[in-house]
Amino acid sequence: MRGSVETSLAELAARVRRRADGQPGRFLLGIAGPPGAGKSTLARGIRDELNLAAGTRIAEVAPMDGFHLTNTQLRALGVLDRKGEPDTFDAAGYVALLRTVRETALGVPVPWPTYDREVHEPVPGGVVIDAASIVVTEGNYLLLDDRAHPEWAEVRPLLDETWYLDVPRPIIEQRLLRRHIRGGRTPEAAKTKVAQSDLRNAALVEATRARADLVLRKAGRGYRID
Ligand SMILES: Nc1ncnc2c1ncn2[C@@H]1O[C@H](COP(=O)(O)OP(=O)(O)OP(=O)(O)O)[C@@H](O)[C@H]1O
Ligand SMILES: [Mg+2]
Repeated sequence: MRGSVETSLAELAARVRRRADGQPGRFLLGIAGPPGAGKSTLARGIRDELNLAAGTRIAEVAPMDGFHLTNTQLRALGVLDRKGEPDTFDAAGYVALLRTVRETALGVPVPWPTYDREVHEPVPGGVVIDAASIVVTEGNYLLLDDRAHPEWAEVRPLLDETWYLDVPRPIIEQRLLRRHIRGGRTPEAAKTKVAQSDLRNAALVEATRARADLVLRKAGRGYRID
């Protein structure tokens, strides 16, 4: 699968399934990458392919985004304008719940928070991890390992495999601009948000790429493995 060959979502899912079947207990797949890379889209795609192939619900998505601090918390800390940066998430809570998901028997429900992009707030228990033997967690900072953010370094050892979804900068910029404008910002405000916040976070995430087990890029209707 490695090289310039295009790998379909179904093939990627089959790879995950083989790995998961080869180990006892729950399998945790991480998908890291910069803002707007397509992580959530890929995670949902893998989940759906796994469930389709199995004919039952064996996979679930557990987003890192669910651990955004609430806007009230961010305002109280005076960091609302920096929302999205590593210290605007409850990293310790994320690590603790990943550990719980690992250690809890299949069939015992574990509520997991999601993030609502309409109201821009986390949703407690937005998804419930229950019978799923494969859990796909996705977000920006899964592979963060620098001294400035020691709390994030505890994530990687809890994952069985971590992928990095790579996307050229210009494409990320375009997607984020469009998203901010769709979300109600003026084109000027959108540009400022991308330049001052998103791209700074992207640089931080890009520095973690080498720690991934697999680096993927979108290619045609599938993905290329670097
Ligand atoms: N493979 C793809 N091809 C084209 N567009 C895509 C692809 N994947 C995602 N997109 C688009 O790019 C945008 C970002 O996708 P997505 O929300 O999956 O990214 P993300 O990495 O989860 O972003 P964030 O870090 O902000 O949560 C969306 O508008 C989505 O429709
Ligand atoms: Mg996302």
